[in-house]
Amino acid sequence: MKKTTRTLLGATVAVLSVSAVALAQGDFPALSTLPPPPIPADNPMTPEKIALGGKLYWDGRLSGNGSMPCSACHLPDLGWGTGSPISFGYPGTQHWRNSQTVLNSAYYNKGFWEGNVTSLESQAPAAAGGAVAGNGDGSMMEMRLRFVPEYVAAFKEVFGTDWPHIVHAWDAIAAYERTIVTDATKVPFDRFLAGDEAALSDEARRGMELFNGKAGCISCHNGALASDERFYNTGVPTAPEFVEDPLYQITQRWEVYQKGVSEETYRTTGTDLGLYFKTKRPGDRGKFRTPSLRELRWTEPFMHNGVIPTLAEVVAFYNAGGGEGQTAGLQPLGLSDTEQVDLVAFLEALSMDEPLLLVEPELPETATWAEFDK
Ligand code: HEC
Ligand code: HEC
Repeated sequence: MKKTTRTLLGATVAVLSVSAVALAQGDFPALSTLPPPPIPADNPMTPEKIALGGKLYWDGRLSGNGSMPCSACHLPDLGWGTGSPISFGYPGTQHWRNSQTVLNSAYYNKGFWEGNVTSLESQAPAAAGGAVAGNGDGSMMEMRLRFVPEYVAAFKEVFGTDWPHIVHAWDAIAAYERTIVTDATKVPFDRFLAGDEAALSDEARRGMELFNGKAGCISCHNGALASDERFYNTGVPTAPEFVEDPLYQITQRWEVYQKGVSEETYRTTGTDLGLYFKTKRPGDRGKFRTPSLRELRWTEPFMHNGVIPTLAEVVAFYNAGGGEGQTAGLQPLGLSDTEQVDLVAFLEALSMDEPLLLVEPELPETATWAEFDK
C-alpha cells in the first residue's frame, strides 16, 4: 500500500516539473503535439460506425431539400470548409459566418465561433437543422433513412435498433469526424518536437521564437491545438457583404432576432456580436473563440467572417495591434518585414505537408416500402 502511494506521489511530482518547464516562458501551455482526440464514453468508435458516419456526412438526405449534406460546406479539398470568406447558405438564404474546418473539430470543448455547442454529437443536429445551413426536419430526415435498406442494416448492426433513429445518425457522424484529425508525422513542427531538428527551416525557427516571445501569439493560441478556447474581440472588421447585400442583411437581422436581444440592440446592430449573443454581457460584444492554428495552409480565408485572405495579412493585422475597437489588449508589435515573413513560415509549419483528403463514398439507394422485410 505504502509503495503504491509513493509511486503515485513520485509520478505526480514528475508531471508537475515537466509542465513547470513548459510554462516557464510566459505562463502559457506550450504548443505541443496533439494526442488522439477524446472519445466520449457513450459514443465509442467502431470501424462500422465510422463507415456509416462517413456516408451520412456526404448524404443530402440529412438536409431539408436533399442538396445540403455536411460535405457541401465542409469539403475535404477546400480544407473541410467552403474556401469562401462567408459560407453560402441553404437555398434561398445566405450564411453569415466563415465555415469552420471540420479538421480537428474533435478537440474543441466549445464548438462554433461563439462556442455555443459542447460536443460533436450536439453540433451535427444544429447544423443539419439550422435554417441557414441544412434546414432539415428531424423526423423527415429520420424517415428518409428508414427507407434505405443499407442504412437499416447498418444502424441495426451499429446501434442495435430495428430502424434508424436520427440521434444515432449524429453519433455516427461525430465518430467519423473524430477520424478527421491531423497526422503529426506529416507536420513539420511536430516532427521537430519529436527530435527532427531539420524539420523546421531557419525562418520557421525564428518565427517560433517570435510566436512565443515578441509577437505574443502564445498568450491565446496555446497548447496542442494552439487555442485557449477563450473569447476575444480582436477588432476584425465587418465583412463588406453585410453593408452591400440584402440577402446577408436578412440573415444578419434574423440571427440577431433569433438570439433574443433587446429591441434597441436589434435595431442598431449591424455587425456580428459573437459571444454577446450567448451571454448578453455588454463586454462580450464582438468576441469570438480563439481558433486553432493547425492546418491553416489548407483553410484560407481567415477569421469568423473570412475578411482576411492570407496568413501574411493576418500577421500584418496583429502587427498593427489588431483592428479598430479591439478589447483583447493587443498592442502594435513592431515586427520588421523579415520578422513577419518568419512568423508566417512558422504558422505554415503547423500544417500537414499535404491536405487530408478522403474519398467521397458511394451513397446507398432508397427502396419502396414493399421491398422491406417488415
Ligand atoms: C450551409 C453550410 C453548412 C452546412 C450544410 C453544414 N455546415 Fe458546419 N459549419 C458551417 C458554418 C458557417 C460554421 C460556423 C458556424 C458558426 O460559428 O455560427 C460551421 C461549423 C461547423 C463545426 C464547428 C467547428 C468548430 O471549429 O467548432 C462543425 C464540427 C461542423 N460545422 C460540422 C458540420 C456537420 C457535421 C454538418 C452536417 C450535419 C454541417 N456542419 C453542415 C457551415 C455549414
Ligand atoms: C488576445 C488573444 C489573441 C492573440 C494574442 C492572438 N490571437 Fe490570433 N485569434 C484570436 C481570436 C479570438 C481569433 C478569431 C477572431 C475573429 O474571427 O473575430 C484569432 C484568429 C487568428 C487567426 C485566424 C485563424 C482562422 O482559422 O480563421 C490566425 C491565423 C491567428 N489568429 C494568428 C495569430 C498570430 C500569428 C498571433 C500573434 C501575432 C495571434 N493570432 C495573436 C485571438 C488571439
